[in-house]
Amino acid sequence: MAITIEQQVQLSTHTTMGVSATAQYVARIDSVEALAEALAWAKKNKVSVLVLGGGSNVLLPSHYKGLVLLIELKKKGVILENEHSVELQIGAGENWHELVEWTVEKGWLGLENLALIPGSVGAAPIQNIGAYGVEVEEYITKVQYLHTQTMNLCWIEREECDFGYRNSIFKNELKAKAIITEVQFKLPKKAQLRTEYESLRSFLRQQGIHEPSQQQVFKAVIQVRQSRLPDTQKLGSCGSFFKNPVLPSEQVDRLKTHFPDVKTYPMPDGYIKVAAGWLIDKAVGKGFRKGQVGTYDQQALVIVHHGGANGDQVREFASFIQGEVLNMFGISLEAEVHIISANSDDA
Ligand code: EPU
Repeated sequence: MAITIEQQVQLSTHTTMGVSATAQYVARIDSVEALAEALAWAKKNKVSVLVLGGGSNVLLPSHYKGLVLLIELKKKGVILENEHSVELQIGAGENWHELVEWTVEKGWLGLENLALIPGSVGAAPIQNIGAYGVEVEEYITKVQYLHTQTMNLCWIEREECDFGYRNSIFKNELKAKAIITEVQFKLPKKAQLRTEYESLRSFLRQQGIHEPSQQQVFKAVIQVRQSRLPDTQKLGSCGSFFKNPVLPSEQVDRLKTHFPDVKTYPMPDGYIKVAAGWLIDKAVGKGFRKGQVGTYDQQALVIVHHGGANGDQVREFASFIQGEVLNMFGISLEAEVHIISANSDDA
């Protein structure tokens, strides 16, 4: 067997939340063949499988009973380039921010608003990562995955990925059936830069920048992010812990009669997105803490881990927040973070 299966591995440094968590088995995956072999091993030994990319959007249990796959599939290539655009093939194990940095260095447009999002390239399509007015679906052309039941290596086109707000086919029909191995992107060489997002626009204005370059947008996104989100090297977090709830307009109208300053964003389909950060801020506040877990002092939607807690304690804190928001506003918050149980299965 070419792969090595390690036993009883501590995973706290493999996730940005940094909670203490051990895995029964761990395999490092640096090729599609190794992935297939690891899945076959898990089937033979009847153990569950958990895929870990950058570990930026998962909350692990104290002990995972099964095989954790650390995805280290590396590839960074240009498939096609002409005067208008470039097409890229990127391995699932590449770091997201390093990809963004590379495209900005080259002057290929589109991903600059997605700077500094923690995590791996393979995780980007799963939850359709987005920030500052841009969602990654706009630039993905297709995704390669290993089908865990047929063991076939498959391609899926963007149109079939069912991308939505922090959602895709990989969270639904293909949940626990697909392990992403590669993502392809198409980036334009000429395009309007996207600076309409409120906090980004006002930051650029404050800097006296009226017609920013791609580099300036990239740097501004980094600075705005750093002012609103914790450095996960210093403070454990998964970024936004919950999704912004998307509600029917009548419900939002009723909410506004009691809370006129609630922050909302109309969606193209007539529904209205409500800022979960605003709701949590009103319900418990920023910098609210229970033991080693709390809300971030700059952004209430971010749950932070001050060290020494396990996944169950973070989960309890998240449930508490959900309860407070439900009591105050009648709105159920849905976790954006993938909460893993002791033997949940990705394969
Ligand atoms: N707000 C408050 N109090 C807070 C937090 C937010 O009043 O404690 C208000 C803000 O003033 C603002 C609004 O809520 O008017 C929205 O806040 P923000 O601009 O920070 O964006 P968000 O909706 O909380 C989303 C993404 C982030 C992304 C930012 C910027 C989700 C779940 N989160 O956050 O993505 O960086 O927009 O585009 O959609 C992530 O997914 O992990 C993530 C960090």
